[in-house]
Amino acid sequence: MSSTQLDMTGQVVIVTGSGRGLGREYALDFGRRGARVVVNDVAVDDDGTPRAAGVVAEIEAAGGTAAISRHDIMSSAGSTELVESAIERWGRLDALVNNAGFLRPGFLPDLTDEKIEQVIAIHLLAPFHATRAAWPHMQTQGYGRVVLTSSASSFGHAGNSQYAAAKGALVGMARSLAGEADFDFRINCVMPQAQSVIAVENPLPGKAMEETRELMNRLTPRRTPRSVAPLVVYLASRDCAVTGEAFSANSGRYARVAYGLTHGWIADAPNEVLAEDISQHIDEILDPSDIFIPQTMHDETVEVYDRLVEADLL
Ligand SMILES: NC(=O)c1ccc[n+]([C@@H]2O[C@H](COP(=O)([O-])OP(=O)(O)OC[C@H]3O[C@@H](n4cnc5c(N)ncnc54)[C@H](O)[C@@H]3O)[C@@H](O)[C@H]2O)c1
Repeated sequence: MSSTQLDMTGQVVIVTGSGRGLGREYALDFGRRGARVVVNDVAVDDDGTPRAAGVVAEIEAAGGTAAISRHDIMSSAGSTELVESAIERWGRLDALVNNAGFLRPGFLPDLTDEKIEQVIAIHLLAPFHATRAAWPHMQTQGYGRVVLTSSASSFGHAGNSQYAAAKGALVGMARSLAGEADFDFRINCVMPQAQSVIAVENPLPGKAMEETRELMNRLTPRRTPRSVAPLVVYLASRDCAVTGEAFSANSGRYARVAYGLTHGWIADAPNEVLAEDISQHIDEILDPSDIFIPQTMHDETVEVYDRLVEADLL
């Protein structure tokens, strides 16, 4: 698909943490498509220049429109002011890409309160605050797109447990908010993979990660912000046909991340089940050969109900 087909002229897009890395690549792509882009980044480079300034200049040099934001989205007030500043400037907000982040790696005994709380604040609370601030504007417009930045760390990432927990929580957030909208609203998660400063400055800790590190190094030429941007731009565009989903973009492989249930084991008399029975059936409970993917908690209830009726247990 060429960039002229997926035109975003007139739209307003916020990308948090877009002064470099993945966010920068997204912002440039939005700018090329005609969107007015708020390039948000709290950081200031060594020479005193706001990190976002260079990206704004790049978008403008390519003929696009962008505005700098230095709001610190660690606080609810900062996230809300970021959204309100876009509305004040351009009168609408079409897409919000929650991307800003940082790592504070450490094994559990080393995780101070600060390390836990800061990582949860930037990766989980900030997207909540910004999305809540964007919501009424999108509702009034009858249109909105939100992208949440999850991570493959949520599959399990020893040495980054608080990060993995926050990133995993975003999947539940997307799935739930998808069901709350009564307008043309789409919210999805992306799990990016890119050799970026955040990745280089925080090498995967621990011996167990040695093989992953080695494979990731070999994938580096394909594991780029450039390869992730098309998925994020699609999810933030009018063309986006999905909501409440999570997707992985890893080295040019784009895939749905499915949160599902095994077929499991059904007990005839649940009120008589003992821990010993769970122990006896644990392989059946774990067996991944038949996975069901509920879209909502209702779907799980229906699945269990139907199977119990079919088995004559209800
Ligand atoms: N790089 C990867 O492989 C990878 C993998 C999975 C998830 N992610 C996620 O993708 C996102 C972007 O990662 P990246 O690799 O581009 O990182 P990066 O460090 O290159 O960029 C993140 C930017 O966010 C900004 N930022 C941090 N705190 C902020 C705040 N309070 N307010 C505003 N801006 C703030 C930083 O200044 C930085 O410029 C992060 O959420 C990260 O967790 C990255």
